[in-house]
Amino acid sequence: MNTRIEKILNKQIKAEATSSQLYLAMASWAECEGINGTAQFLYAHSDEERQHMLKLVKFVNERGGKAEIPSIEIPQKEFESPSHVFTLLLEHEIQVTNMINEVVFVCLEEKDYSTHNFMQWFVAEQLEEEALARNILDKLKLIGNDKGGLYLFDRDLNTLISKPETPTN
Ligand code: FEO
Repeated sequence: MNTRIEKILNKQIKAEATSSQLYLAMASWAECEGINGTAQFLYAHSDEERQHMLKLVKFVNERGGKAEIPSIEIPQKEFESPSHVFTLLLEHEIQVTNMINEVVFVCLEEKDYSTHNFMQWFVAEQLEEEALARNILDKLKLIGNDKGGLYLFDRDLNTLISKPETPTN
């Protein structure tokens, strides 16, 4: 595997692992706050990010590179509200999208079309994840401080959980 591609994919492995830990910290916070729908949604989201990481690990190793399993900094553990959580989550996903775009750009520069092809799954996934986070934030804006609305929001968030995908290449 081209070393520049290997390096940037390893950077992406760390980004996905960091996302997984951040969403796990958010899930744990939500659980302690008694907002269980939100907690379940975030636990599932954390699992999905781990699957993204695994997908990259396996791809790098199977293409003759060496995946680096990274150490991760301790994520933020206190949050002010569900709106705060989902604002941070959207900001984080936008950063990840920028990183994915950079990987795609390097693939083109290096004329690595098979990695470019592999990365298209991540491009589509980022579009979905950003749209979902924006949708949730729009709902939270509508609800404002209405406790009944927040109760229903938390209950309904369970229905937005998508099944983590089994990593494939
Ligand atoms: Fe795998 Fe949400 O980035």
